[in-house]
Amino acid sequence: MAAMFDGVAPRYDRTNTVLSFGQDRSWRRTTRAALRLRPTDRCLDVAAGTGVSTEELARSGAFAVGLDLSFGMLSVGRRVRPTMPLVAGDALALPFADASFDAVTISFGLRNVTDVRAGLAEMARVTRSGGRIVVCEFSAPTSPAFRRVYLGYLMRALPAVAKRVSANPDAYVYLAESIRAWPDQAGLAAVMQDAGWGRVGWRNLTGGIVALHRAVKP
Ligand SMILES: C[S@@+](CC[C@H](N)C(=O)[O-])C[C@H]1O[C@@H](n2cnc3c(N)ncnc32)[C@H](O)[C@@H]1O
Repeated sequence: MAAMFDGVAPRYDRTNTVLSFGQDRSWRRTTRAALRLRPTDRCLDVAAGTGVSTEELARSGAFAVGLDLSFGMLSVGRRVRPTMPLVAGDALALPFADASFDAVTISFGLRNVTDVRAGLAEMARVTRSGGRIVVCEFSAPTSPAFRRVYLGYLMRALPAVAKRVSANPDAYVYLAESIRAWPDQAGLAAVMQDAGWGRVGWRNLTGGIVALHRAVKP
């Protein structure tokens, strides 16, 4: 997994923006707003990659730290965003004490964690009681007609476009397949609850292409 992301790292930020028609920027802004960060908050961005998601969180004034498994992604992040705190680590064994964050988030990363429930439980461990989580992840478009068009884009057009713009097009075939295999909105909410999160809810973005799941640490 880390090796695949090492391969896409050099052109990661730009490829995202091309493949999502620029939507990724608004998904990130909405994730930050949903976290309701205050300037005194400490926020952990798990699977931060190049820190593009962490940078958006820092705009709130909160202290935001990004964590990722891929040295390739982290080293691009350190070059492009030299003042951003980015640390190497595994979502399944976070290098932080219990209850050390007010908020924790993961965008377009949970799908890649090999044990989703364990990753969510580990994120709950490092969050203080009353702290919150927002998961930003690809999901299931709610309208059946739109879902058909979207799946066509995902399985055919996206890998073809990625061939032109990405450093590792095979990674985008994996992306399409992993989105198709991912649970829908209610399915992910159930896993979050099972992993120890309370008051789980979600909202759809771009017709359900992306969903934001929000919950509170009991
Ligand atoms: C699609 S990128 C998302 C990056 C960023 N959050 C964003 O919004 O663009 C997914 C990231 O998940 C990371 N990742 C996968 N498994 C991980 C794990 N177990 N622990 C930490 N990071 C992981 C990969 O290295 C990759 O950088």
